[in-house]
Amino acid sequence: MKEAIEQILGELNNLKASTQKEVEEARIRFLGKKGEITALMEEFRTVAPELKREYGQKLNELKKAAAAKIEELKEVAEQAAEAAAPKEDLSMPGDAIPLGSRHPVSIVRQQIVDIFRKFGYDVAEGPEIEDDYHVFEALNFPPNHPAREMQDTFFVSTGHANPLLLRTHTSSVQVRTMEKEKLPIRVVCPGRVFRNEAISARAHCIFHQVEGLYIDKDVTFADLKQAILLFAREMFGAETEIRMRPSYFPFTEPSAEVDVSCNICKGKGCNICKGTGWLEIMGCGMVDPNVLKASGIDPEQYSGFAFGMGVERIAMLKWQVNDLRHYFENDMRFLSEFATATEV
Ligand code: PHE
Repeated sequence: MKEAIEQILGELNNLKASTQKEVEEARIRFLGKKGEITALMEEFRTVAPELKREYGQKLNELKKAAAAKIEELKEVAEQAAEAAAPKEDLSMPGDAIPLGSRHPVSIVRQQIVDIFRKFGYDVAEGPEIEDDYHVFEALNFPPNHPAREMQDTFFVSTGHANPLLLRTHTSSVQVRTMEKEKLPIRVVCPGRVFRNEAISARAHCIFHQVEGLYIDKDVTFADLKQAILLFAREMFGAETEIRMRPSYFPFTEPSAEVDVSCNICKGKGCNICKGTGWLEIMGCGMVDPNVLKASGIDPEQYSGFAFGMGVERIAMLKWQVNDLRHYFENDMRFLSEFATATEV
């Protein structure tokens, strides 16, 4: 029996099994029900009592050594099998790439532009980095107007007569259009504007405007009212009413602020319209004769109106978004809410 134990120990030491199948075969050979070590255990019963202690110990050691060796070989074989297996399960379905959608500000800007296109307006664009002349001077801003201060406007270069700045409104495109287009003029100017404002729920240093300009013979305030009423009804619904409050802009005279009847409570008063039944949507007015003159248009022969609205403001009213900052943070949870909102 001693020899048999020694021999099996020797075999175990030299045992080689590289695949999982070979390891299992080795386990059966030594430790299986009919295995060599199992057979020795059987034989142990017949060993003389005085030898039982010594052989018992040896047999136990052999069994442990065999189990350890098989376990060790098993691990190596498993690792080899893992390394050889393909890394990815090629039959898995692919990751769906989420479909992008248009930004709510783009959707509303497009809606505004589309409405005015239907009324026969062209689209005009101009530079975001503008000069003082097109943003202020030609629009009849007096030299000491507060908008011309650093705290209201981002200047790109100063220290000369016509400093460069980030346009604070798209009215600059009004001027550029009057300079180069033939009369009559009927355009909308969508674009990004910049103001040196602290960022809050109601204000941002970047936002979007759509400016409108109509110049022809005999254009009156009644035409302005009609254009804005038609726009408001297309944008907010056929029942919408408008009202105008006197206001002031250097480039229009007279000037007005336009309110639409609240489309949430239908004018009854709610927390969106703060109980008034009205929502402010834009500024407007008849183009000041000084502005026409500055661009070489004779105010005796021609007249016109202009209006300007904030795109984010219109979008907030349409979708009751109560914080302007949502539009600039690009949080997918917010943006994806508008994935299907492409129609008016
Ligand atoms: N430019 C003005 C603003 O930014 C809006 C406006 C445009 C007012 C045209 C009257 C006419 O607030």
